[in-house]
Amino acid sequence: MIRKAKIHEVPEIRRFLGKFSEDGGILPRTLADLYGQLRDYYVYREDQGPLLGIAALHICWAGLGEIRSVAVAPTHQRRGIASRLVQTCLAEARAIGLSEIFLLTLVPEFFQRFGFKVVSREDLLPIVWADCVNCVKFPDCDEIPMVLNLESGI
Ligand SMILES: CC(C)(COP(=O)(O)OP(=O)(O)OC[C@H]1O[C@@H](n2cnc3c(N)ncnc32)[C@H](O)[C@@H]1OP(=O)(O)O)[C@@H](O)C(=O)NCCC(=O)NCCS
Repeated sequence: MIRKAKIHEVPEIRRFLGKFSEDGGILPRTLADLYGQLRDYYVYREDQGPLLGIAALHICWAGLGEIRSVAVAPTHQRRGIASRLVQTCLAEARAIGLSEIFLLTLVPEFFQRFGFKVVSREDLLPIVWADCVNCVKFPDCDEIPMVLNLESGI
């Protein structure tokens, strides 16, 4: 089941994301980040079992959102879980009136399925880069920027 994350799940979310950050696919998040932005996060669990998937929709600016921290446990990948998490984020983005979603990823093939298109870094608003200076990858970021226009009917 996909649902909004709950406050007691923050330590488990941090550990979960930490496993993916070791190979560079996901940026690590501090507890302060997670508590402050918990309302961004969706989780996937089966019954009362362990955390198996996560994704977040973060609001950046007027009309602009970011999908971040999309990850599924290796044991449960290729079952459509990440796709459902991304669709949930996009549904919320539409519901609250966002017009564009961007993300930075090492797996553009996955996000192309939803209509995201690769763009150049210069195409993104400067506000997007505000978090970058605090990132472990700064300034040698290898992530690929992608954008989805929610007003184009995709
Ligand atoms: C990328 C990731 C989130 C996909 O999760 P998932 O639940 O396996 O994805 P889905 O089952 O919804 O995949 C649907 C389709 O997307 C594509 N896809 C999935 N993972 C992919 C990958 N790693 N690379 C390229 N395409 C991929 C496939 O076409 C797949 O369909 P198929 O299984 O019929 O071939 C998962 O591999 C993961 O957690 N990776 C490590 C963290 C990461 O890199 N996250 C993205 C950074 S923002």
